[in-house]
Amino acid sequence: MKTVVVTGATSGIGKATALDLAACRFHVIGTARTPDKAEKLTAAAAELGLTVHTVLLDVTDPRSCQDAVVEIDALTDGGPWALVNNAGIAPVGAFEDVAEADARAALEVNLLGVARMTGLVLPGMRRRREGRIVQLSSLGGLVSVPFNGWYCASKHALEALTDSLRMEIAGSGVHACLIEPGFTDTPMLSKGLADFPADSRYAHGYMAARRLIASWSPPGPETVARTVRRALLAPKPRRRYRCGPGAVPAPLLRLAPAPVADLICRSALRLNKR
Ligand SMILES: NC(=O)c1ccc[n+]([C@@H]2O[C@H](COP(=O)([O-])OP(=O)(O)OC[C@H]3O[C@@H](n4cnc5c(N)ncnc54)[C@H](OP(=O)(O)O)[C@@H]3O)[C@@H](O)[C@H]2O)c1
Repeated sequence: MKTVVVTGATSGIGKATALDLAACRFHVIGTARTPDKAEKLTAAAAELGLTVHTVLLDVTDPRSCQDAVVEIDALTDGGPWALVNNAGIAPVGAFEDVAEADARAALEVNLLGVARMTGLVLPGMRRRREGRIVQLSSLGGLVSVPFNGWYCASKHALEALTDSLRMEIAGSGVHACLIEPGFTDTPMLSKGLADFPADSRYAHGYMAARRLIASWSPPGPETVARTVRRALLAPKPRRRYRCGPGAVPAPLLRLAPAPVADLICRSALRLNKR
């Protein structure tokens, strides 16, 4: 049975992915930041008649990453077949409203944490001449939108890092690919919409963003989980998998002339009305 490690498996897309893969007969190790969240994940799996093993991990802590990988190696007789780098956070707000500490945290989790975990499992995959690295990026890794600058910056950087990695490891038997979901109904999204600062010059824009996203009724995380499964089951995974609303318009926005793309985003978020 192939082992897949899913980071940040206690919520949203990570949890849905861990359960979906366990139902597809993968040996799943889901990571959690605290023992009580790990227990809840195991219990959620058990309720469905599934088994998900758990390991404690904070991707921002190099020691925690090393300890987790030692434990994973012991559970898997030498290392996992696949790593799904799902753990992520999203500081929301306009550039002028995001504190440096929040920006730094996003880069730590969404970029350096991913790099840390990838670096730790890659040598084993190379030795075995097979393995998969699946990165949870975002459509925000392709196009930047207002009020999401640091999140988009972290995902653009993840896209760049993964493109380089994919070319470097080509032919080694290890494949790296990117999953690019649009807005998905998870705690990250609801927290993000609630977290816009109240006292801001962009308050009307934040209100417009809330209304716009609510009107799209984003799909649940199961859609993304199925896409991760597709990437893992493909004999030769694609470089990128887009899913959810925006999968078609977001890349088109990137192709549009910059003044047109800016105008579309600014109008949608009422930034022209000030
Ligand atoms: N939701 C969307 O609209 C959307 C769209 C595109 C891409 N994505 C990407 O999909 C991934 C999952 O997002 P989600 O929406 O499912 O978010 P979520 O519900 O907030 O789940 C995030 C997961 O990451 C974990 N995590 C956060 N910081 C961590 C750290 N320092 N170390 C280890 N784990 C950590 C969380 O653990 P705790 O439970 O302990 O906080 C949680 O399990 C992210 O990479 C996100 O950028 C989301």
